[in-house]
Amino acid sequence: MIHLSDYRVPDYRISTVDMTISLHPTKTHVITTSAFTPNPDRKAGVVPLHLDGDELSLHAIQLDGKPLAAEAYRVKPDSLTLLAPPQTQFTLTIETIINPTANTKLMGLYRSNGVYCTQCEADGFRRISYFPDRPDVMATYRVRLEAEKKDAPVLLANGNLIKKGSIKDTTRHFAVWEDPHPKPCYLFAVVGGDLGSIKDSFTTSEGRKVALGIYVEKGKEKLAGYAMEALKRSMLWDETAFGRAYDLDIFNIVAVSDFNMGAMENKGLNIFNDKYVLASPETATDMDYQLIEAIIAHEYFHNWTGNRITCRDWFQLCLKEGLTVFRDQEFTSDMRSRPVKRIMDARELRSRQFPEDSGPLSHPVRPTAYSEINNFYTTTVYEKGAEVIRMLKLLIGNNAFKKGMDLYFKRHDGDAATIEQFIACFAESSRKDLTHFSQWYHQAGTPEVNIKRQINAETGVLSLHFKQKTPPTPGQTKKAPKVIPIALGFVDPAARSVTSKLHTKTQVFTLDQSEVVLAFPEISPNAVPSLLRGFSAPVNLNTDLREEELLTLARLDPDPFNRWQSLQTVLSKTIQLSVKNIRAGKNPVKHDGLAAAFLQNLKEALSDPAFVALALSFPGEQDIAREIGKDIDPDAIHIARKTLRQHIATTIGAEVLSVFRETAFKGKYQPDAKTSGLRSLRNTLLDLLVTADAEAFATVAFKQFQTANNMTDRFTALSILTHSGHALGIEALKLLEKQFSENPLVMDKWFALQASVAAPATLEKVKMLMQHPSFSISNPNRARSLIGSFAMSNPTQFNRADGAGYRFVAETALAIDALNPQVSARIVTAFRSWRTLEPNRQAAAEAALQNIMSNSGISRDLKDIVTRSLQ
Ligand code: TRP
Ligand code: ZN
Repeated sequence: MIHLSDYRVPDYRISTVDMTISLHPTKTHVITTSAFTPNPDRKAGVVPLHLDGDELSLHAIQLDGKPLAAEAYRVKPDSLTLLAPPQTQFTLTIETIINPTANTKLMGLYRSNGVYCTQCEADGFRRISYFPDRPDVMATYRVRLEAEKKDAPVLLANGNLIKKGSIKDTTRHFAVWEDPHPKPCYLFAVVGGDLGSIKDSFTTSEGRKVALGIYVEKGKEKLAGYAMEALKRSMLWDETAFGRAYDLDIFNIVAVSDFNMGAMENKGLNIFNDKYVLASPETATDMDYQLIEAIIAHEYFHNWTGNRITCRDWFQLCLKEGLTVFRDQEFTSDMRSRPVKRIMDARELRSRQFPEDSGPLSHPVRPTAYSEINNFYTTTVYEKGAEVIRMLKLLIGNNAFKKGMDLYFKRHDGDAATIEQFIACFAESSRKDLTHFSQWYHQAGTPEVNIKRQINAETGVLSLHFKQKTPPTPGQTKKAPKVIPIALGFVDPAARSVTSKLHTKTQVFTLDQSEVVLAFPEISPNAVPSLLRGFSAPVNLNTDLREEELLTLARLDPDPFNRWQSLQTVLSKTIQLSVKNIRAGKNPVKHDGLAAAFLQNLKEALSDPAFVALALSFPGEQDIAREIGKDIDPDAIHIARKTLRQHIATTIGAEVLSVFRETAFKGKYQPDAKTSGLRSLRNTLLDLLVTADAEAFATVAFKQFQTANNMTDRFTALSILTHSGHALGIEALKLLEKQFSENPLVMDKWFALQASVAAPATLEKVKMLMQHPSFSISNPNRARSLIGSFAMSNPTQFNRADGAGYRFVAETALAIDALNPQVSARIVTAFRSWRTLEPNRQAAAEAALQNIMSNSGISRDLKDIVTRSLQ
């Protein structure tokens, strides 16, 4: 276990690192010469120099250019210690030989489809060379790469290209790269391979002309155009929104097909999972395009929030990740629709972060202990981290927020910083004490906010009674009240439209005690309070609003988030009631008021398609499970939700059909917000039509599948058919497989869809698909598509009453663990809510987890997740 409280400054600092890397499929030579100086702030006396390693073997070592005596150091695969290094400046030259082809963990130097690439965050550099692998040791790097010309005609590294050429009398060549910006080793990257590329350029606000390149497997160059456009938009946006310009003459992106996460922000050389670069209308959906745009932006924005200012230690991960997610969310809001983006982010947060935060894997945004850092790249650090910054901005206002950001960039440029230093900038810019607010970083768990109305019997004045509490989470018992910004307003039920003058404006109330009563003497007690507008804080909200009041908000609230939320709340409450009925042997609930609300939404369809598509969508089965919170029966939830959906779809079928016909869109495909909103609406309607009458509308869906000029419409049609169980779904699946068997990214969708079908036959299907020629258990995208989707997106089948779903995921995770621990650990987080299930399923899930633990030789990554899950 590593503890934040054990942090010490590094004993030795490094000014420059000089590397020669001779690429070879199985024997890559790495010579690293680093210039060390004892850190004057270290503890007194001669301190040994400790370097990290991971599965390394030392080939040679020199101190100041002379071979080092064997008694002067101790070496193991995971460390190298110089017992008594000089107490002045010295250089250390270390030669290691590594095997990139055998590297299946995809950390350090590895090969993906023959391409040499690196992944060093969080601690992969120690798999390349012995080194002080910690983010507060920052140095400038000069890298000479050598390779067979045939094997790797393209040679890339961080920074600027200094020279390149042939190596005399050989078939090899070299390239020398220099990065003038001091950086921690986790931002180091090299790439070598036979890659194609597209080139462009961008001139910064400071007048610097930057050469842009995106490198992809040969033949896929045409698929990188959208990513390049997104990159240029990101560069411009960071200049206008945050005043941040790029700082090198080159910015390169490389797309690889084997990658543990989404992408990596290596200085000047971002490396991407190719699914977040490659796109064409025929193969990528609107959602794929939106994710490409957001992730390109995210990695680019790291150049300032992460690279120029990095983290002192890995406990500060949210310093760069929460802030950079906040920045990419703002970017998407400006590029597309702000209200739609806010709804999607809140929906994501609740469906992924809230369960994490209420279960055994719960941890603060800034944790204080970890045993495996790779398991802390979580939705809590990333997405809740971004929410905390959003709240900070709301609390101190746009001006103080901007001043605070400017101060942060100015004061900490070049630093390895902490959350305290970040917050101090905003305390200064706003002249507010932010000590209490900082609890958001330190205290885990999702706060619960209860708001009830009171009307004074004598004066008739309306007040709101606010209460907050944060449920206990493992390892953290005492929960103090937090500072919770609650945006609120009042809606007049007599108004006729969302723009009515009768509604009050939004105000922000800051709830910073466990209980507060606030009087609203000017407000009519009939007015409907609209609370937590825009999802102004990541909390669970309970109110005393009656169903007809929620439906009023669904019609009239000028805040789009709450207009959407109110209907979701009614839907969820109705389904929860239905679940109770089903489990008591009674009939599921049907609800005519809801059908009327859907009709109302349909009327607005043409004025705001993207929003209406969201408003016509149901809360997911896992969202309903989360709200029920305990003794969960996933089958009952599935039936309750399906029955209500069928009832509503049948009731409003005729109107749905007429809007569906009206919105037919012919024309060239564009992945923009406007037309993708229209597609999303139409496909939501198609889904309702097939739900209402599968026999009549399956052919419409099938025709859309066959004739659409884009993957969004094709794949949604396929997905609707497949989930409906209609025979045409099977035929469409075959057609897609035939057309795209050579396209792994499309096959991923094909795997994921089949793994998510709520039918008992799915488990056997998934096992069969593991034998499919396009499947490979060692490729993270394939494993996540097939196994991950089954575990995370198929609540009835993963949670089969007979426990077979759990056993399958546990066994498969073990098989993956032998190759790639980061991927196996991630898949097993699917068990994180096991204690909320009904007793039989709980027992089966626990047994599967225990079975994983009983295996000797499981990775630290997997062991950490399973141990915490069982706690
Ligand atoms: N820093 C990366 C980001 O932008 C995250 C990341 C990419 C990562 N690859 C990784 C983290 C491998 C751990 C391991 O969010
Ligand atoms: Zn990031």
